[in-house]
Amino acid sequence: MNQTVKRIDTASLDHLETASIDELRATQVKRLQWSLKHAYENVPFYRQSFDKAGVHPEDVKSLEDLGKLPFTTKADLRDNYPFGMFATPMSDVVRVHASSGTTGQPTVVGYTQRDIDTWADVVARSIRAAGGSRNDKVHVAYGYGLFTGGLGAHYGAERLGCAVIPMSGGQTEKQVQLIRDFQPDIIMVTPSYMLNIADEMDRQGIDPRELPLRAGIFGAEPWTNDMRTALERRLGIDALDIYGLSEVMGPGVGMECLETKDGPTIWEDHFYPEIIDPVTGELLPDGEYGELVFTTLTKEALPVIRYRTRDLTRLLPGTARPMRRIDKITGRSDDMLIIRGVNVFPTQIEEQLLKIDQLSPHYEIEVTRQGNMDMVRVRVEACSNDIARDPATCEQLGKRLQHAIKTYVGISTKIDVCGVEEVMRSVGKAKRVKDLR
Ligand code: DLL
Repeated sequence: MNQTVKRIDTASLDHLETASIDELRATQVKRLQWSLKHAYENVPFYRQSFDKAGVHPEDVKSLEDLGKLPFTTKADLRDNYPFGMFATPMSDVVRVHASSGTTGQPTVVGYTQRDIDTWADVVARSIRAAGGSRNDKVHVAYGYGLFTGGLGAHYGAERLGCAVIPMSGGQTEKQVQLIRDFQPDIIMVTPSYMLNIADEMDRQGIDPRELPLRAGIFGAEPWTNDMRTALERRLGIDALDIYGLSEVMGPGVGMECLETKDGPTIWEDHFYPEIIDPVTGELLPDGEYGELVFTTLTKEALPVIRYRTRDLTRLLPGTARPMRRIDKITGRSDDMLIIRGVNVFPTQIEEQLLKIDQLSPHYEIEVTRQGNMDMVRVRVEACSNDIARDPATCEQLGKRLQHAIKTYVGISTKIDVCGVEEVMRSVGKAKRVKDLR
């Protein structure tokens, strides 16, 4: 899309953001030793799990030694609900957040003042990586509240000195009104909700390309490079990927740089990444796909040691920064559908439908079982109701998509091309899959 090489003001980068790999690794080892000791001494769960594995924090002398330690999972956080994993007394905790999860019991995370400062710093760094500066107005449409998206983005944008518009999620008409009137330079929102906002702009007769909006900082759900192209064309912006999860911090664990747009750089001076085989737990070399695992290096209230994210990706060498990147997340291991033995991620279906111009990126996938057979139905909106009202065109588009999914993903599907707004909209993370098996 954007052929010109974009640059940010490198003089403003944090020291560690551009430090040599040797300096970075030395800092990581020191911080890792602190973090392990802190977790071991203050969280009974870690003391027990390290003791059981026969490792003491002092046995960890290098980053390679981290592999001796056991993993931590979401179930461990749930078992210690709500505050059992906190490593500081409640008097030092200044904020809690929680993620909803599917079982009803939320996962609770906590922050000291220093954690909030670190978080603001990494989000500020992330906005700067998107080309942002104190001269920018930032519209935050991630939800505020227990979800980390809104407040995480907010504190980071303030830290950078931006003028923050704390809109939160929802009230789509009002979102558009504020974007039109306040003229933000940057928007922070889930990519799926950005599409809804863009649809509302169309309804109100506003051409987003005429607005000063320059960059979108999109995350909290998987999205493909084809979706990037679609969003950039439609809005006339740079669409950049921000990654994070509450258990590790919130948004800003990693961020894509404007210069390269080649996957989020992990802010490794605070969050140490590893990739493991999701089945055997074996550590995999950089470049190989597997499950992303994080160890926090500086977090006080809720240190996590070898936390299994269930996010599937691979580690790649640094480009715009010396720190390593992750490839765009294909999906979570929990979102992977097994259809008649074939592993399928919703993003693979998204990739195919975005290649067909007359289809919109609003879609949902329904899986049912008939007898022993898994049946997959993809409902996707046509770009306009004129197309949706023409059965012959719908049938032809459906056949094209069905063929593409069969060829590139390897599964048989039934496709329903429906009218505009017939697929459920979300104001935060999109729920793409209904698994009724
Ligand atoms: O979604 C934090 C966040 C907010 C990140 C705003 C970016 C922007 P949780 O609700 O705990 O936290 O969900 C974390 O969301 O493990 C991934 O599965 C998914 N996720 C987050 N960012 C991305 C991304 C926030 N850029 C879970 N690409 C993670 C793909 C993402 N998936």
